[in-house]
Amino acid sequence: MRAEPQSFDRVLSSMCTEPHPAAREAAERFLATNPGDPGTYQTAAALEDRAVAMLGEIVGLEIDTADAIGAADEDGSGGPTGYVTSGGTEANVQAVRIARERAARGTDRPSVVVPESAHFSFRKAADLLQVDLEVVPTASDHRVDLDAVRAAVDEDTAAVVGVAGSTEYGRVDPIPELGEIATSVDALLHVDAAWGGFALPFTDREWHFGHAAVDTMAIDPHKMGQAAVPAGGLLVRSADLLDELAVDTPYLESTSQATLTGTRSGAGVASAVAAMEELWPDGYRDQYVRSQHNAEWLADQLESRGYDVVEPVLPLVAASIPTWLFESLRAEGWRLSRTGDDERVRFVCMPHVTREMLESFLADLDRLESRAARAVPSPGE
Ligand SMILES: Cc1ncc(COP(=O)(O)O)c(C=O)c1O
Repeated sequence: MRAEPQSFDRVLSSMCTEPHPAAREAAERFLATNPGDPGTYQTAAALEDRAVAMLGEIVGLEIDTADAIGAADEDGSGGPTGYVTSGGTEANVQAVRIARERAARGTDRPSVVVPESAHFSFRKAADLLQVDLEVVPTASDHRVDLDAVRAAVDEDTAAVVGVAGSTEYGRVDPIPELGEIATSVDALLHVDAAWGGFALPFTDREWHFGHAAVDTMAIDPHKMGQAAVPAGGLLVRSADLLDELAVDTPYLESTSQATLTGTRSGAGVASAVAAMEELWPDGYRDQYVRSQHNAEWLADQLESRGYDVVEPVLPLVAASIPTWLFESLRAEGWRLSRTGDDERVRFVCMPHVTREMLESFLADLDRLESRAARAVPSPGE
């Protein structure tokens, strides 16, 4: 049987999207390469340097490609760098690992402070790396409660995590303030911009290395960056942080490796470069504006129908929709998911989500609502 991938026609829940045509073509071209063995697969390795440099430009880090993994500056720290991960999960796990390794020199009980809005990949990281996860609440605006972070940090804190584009509500934590708190206890600040990183440059929010004392960051080309899966990104302010992860690689042509996976696809790397060369900055800006307008339009439409809506800061709307309607819409083929507390349906306005698609969704919602209203006998019937 020759299976075909599903279309994106009714997908409203995914943080990924259809790759840009140039990204798809590059992914196919580099399918059989392995940047995990950079001495042998030199073109893929050079492309990875290019990907990291371009990601650096997006997040306010000037990356000299000569600073690729392992290269040290005169002071021994090395310049900013990073690598193309398999996704946000790997970037977050590796960031926690960097922080744990660095903190291990001062504590035997390293902890990581994360907002309750943080992606579940931090739970995996804590489990794998045996660090304590200190989960702090968010305030009513769904951003981390800074007083709770201040109360949670201490000398065992290895890292403080801020989210720049949260998975459930698309919110951006106060990153500069989190940087100050992390610095006060000599912890690292990791920013998870896995989803938001390609939209935030076009907002006036403070979220990146140029705005705050950020040490490490996740930013995924395979989400809003319109690259093919797998293409995540881990960036670090100085190469010595990445060195915390390096192991010797005796049988390869290169001598050490800081990535979590060994062999990994050059498809993601090549497609990340192709997408960014095609879209940064104007294409991403246009897309962000379109997606944000769609999200705001959808929020208004849902509100006018009487649903309780969390306004979109980034292109993600959350709305309270009753379970029977959520399930009926799913049965109609709409791919929808809910927030962790099951209270709200999330609508992620990714590039494949057009106004026509949202109109068609609302038409289905209205039809199901009126059918249900007709089925309920009015009083006295
Ligand atoms: C904010 C955030 N971080 C991390 C991840 C995990 O990324 P991945 O699924 O690519 O591993 C996601 C996934 O949606 C996310 O939204």
